[in-house]
Amino acid sequence: MKPIVNQRRLSEELEALSRFSGAAAPAVTRVVFSEQDLRARAWLKELCSNAGLEVREDAVGNTFARWHGSDPRAAAVGTGSHIDAIPHSGRYDGTVGVLGGLEAIRALKESGFHLRRSLELLLFTSEEPTRFGIGCLGSRLLSGALSPSVDASLTDEDRRSLREVRSNAGFTGTLDSVALPAGYYDAFVELHIEQGPILEQREIPLGVVTAIAAPASLRIDIEGQGGHAGAVLMPSRHDAFLAAAEIALALESIARRTGAIDSVATIGVCDIFPRAINSIPSRVHMEADIRDIDADRRDAMIRRLEDACTDIALSRGVSIAIEFINRDMPAKCDERIVETIAAVCDASGFAYARMVSRAYHDSLFMSRICPTAMLFIPCRAGVSHRPDEYASADAIAQGSLVLAGTMAMLAS
Ligand code: HGY
Ligand code: MN
Ligand code: MN
Repeated sequence: MKPIVNQRRLSEELEALSRFSGAAAPAVTRVVFSEQDLRARAWLKELCSNAGLEVREDAVGNTFARWHGSDPRAAAVGTGSHIDAIPHSGRYDGTVGVLGGLEAIRALKESGFHLRRSLELLLFTSEEPTRFGIGCLGSRLLSGALSPSVDASLTDEDRRSLREVRSNAGFTGTLDSVALPAGYYDAFVELHIEQGPILEQREIPLGVVTAIAAPASLRIDIEGQGGHAGAVLMPSRHDAFLAAAEIALALESIARRTGAIDSVATIGVCDIFPRAINSIPSRVHMEADIRDIDADRRDAMIRRLEDACTDIALSRGVSIAIEFINRDMPAKCDERIVETIAAVCDASGFAYARMVSRAYHDSLFMSRICPTAMLFIPCRAGVSHRPDEYASADAIAQGSLVLAGTMAMLAS
């Protein structure tokens, strides 16, 4: 019997998940290991258990829900995404991949599908950089891309270490137990909203992702002189904020001038000290996100930014320090998995487009340990990381159905 996605159940679960939030609807805020996140995790684990899946969690809270196949020696097929949400964002980023993945597994189970390889749903811890400053924390540790020493070195804005926060949340054990053994998965497929306008503009219901852009995240700290806003005359100022402003505009110009539309750069954090209307800013802390599908082009942007900072420091008499948080390589998706997804779309009569992902995802790191690809569904006007983020129930159900068909092919 063909798998049938229960669209109403899936929509109701997405609605229920959105209510585990620290923000008033339609906004969602669900920061990793917050009370809302922990309640959402407990709720999801119960859903997985009720679906007859075997649930376990690792030392950093990555959660695995497994449907055992008939061949216990065969490497499993994985799917999943994240449920943490940046402040004041939407309800579909990540959650479509977790609940759509669960629904795909339930649809296969309920269709009586005979499973050779086990199917495993993953909830990755902390895909968003909000709390600990680095994205894909759980999948980096799973793939061995991040050292377990971050347990002590990563801290949140209250200066609490990852070890302290995760232990208080009930995730104990050592981080060196998190990395998965080689060959653990035979394939991994992540369902996600596009977080861009292409599918909707081209009126194509599905995107098969062939490459994933990689971010470089930097901290930029500027030290000026500060002083009295009335008494210090303009020629003798060393205003840290104006230097920061010049850096931000320089970064925008650098990204616009690479000649490629895939080059993007953002300053998303800017803290001014002492933050007083009548005091010249003496210090500024900024954080920059620089991405491209092409790593060399992205790194050329970084070099130009470093040169601009050298010039600005000299011309304004301030000091500027740049610290890298992460500088990841982009990922190419696995051709076999891409072709499998495309074959399921063709067999289902669904139009699709091959495309790149400009957002990063946990698949960026899963691709380091197993053949990986992603499946996109459209989101309205390409909007994401905003309360008006929206994907239709039909599009989500269609994505879950294609995911079910893809996993059936990969797991048989
Ligand atoms: O920023 C990103 O690309 C992802 O949504 N965390
Ligand atoms: Mn996101
Ligand atoms: Mn996401």
